[in-house]
Amino acid sequence: MASFEVPKRLRPSLPFVPSPPEVVKKMLELALPSREEILMDLGCGDGRILISAAKDYGCTALGIEKNRALVELARRRASLAKPGSVRVLWADLFEADFSKAQVLTLYLTPESLRLLKPRLEQNLSFGARVVSHDYRIHGWNPLTEEEVFSSTDGKWHRIYLYRHPAFRRFGSEK
Ligand SMILES: C[S@@+](CC[C@H](N)C(=O)[O-])C[C@H]1O[C@@H](n2cnc3c(N)ncnc32)[C@H](O)[C@@H]1O
Repeated sequence: MASFEVPKRLRPSLPFVPSPPEVVKKMLELALPSREEILMDLGCGDGRILISAAKDYGCTALGIEKNRALVELARRRASLAKPGSVRVLWADLFEADFSKAQVLTLYLTPESLRLLKPRLEQNLSFGARVVSHDYRIHGWNPLTEEEVFSSTDGKWHRIYLYRHPAFRRFGSEK
């Protein structure tokens, strides 16, 4: 088994907690996908990031989602919203190939990010942007981080933007 593969028994189960609209907007403003680019959302839930990305930026949007009911919901929402190109795959993000994506969006737990990191470093294409909602990828150096207040849930959210390779060169991890 390649070292970056996470054994099934270690893959955490993550609940569906949608990113509020203000956060989706800011994640996409930071990532700025162009029409020629592919954006992937790993664990895409109801497909909200994909639909906004395809509608507002005209990029190709591809979601990976493990929960079958959410896959159906995301596909339904996408077909109603009729954005350009949205596809939702019923698959496990720990097995996904994201080498063709120029933009990756993530709203995962710190533990999932920790487990996913070696695969990201192995599989991401050079220069790909990674936008992570609420949790940093330890050992990576963000290009920028921003806070957004969501009136939907009354909370502040943090967003990290990285460009691959984003390994920290100096200092220790905080
Ligand atoms: C916190 S939600 C984020 C949803 C969406 N990305 C957003 O920001 O609104 C995490 C999503 O990841 C999905 N998920 C959890 N583990 C997964 C896995 N191993 N493979 C694919 N999807 C997974 C969950 O079903 C859930 O929809």
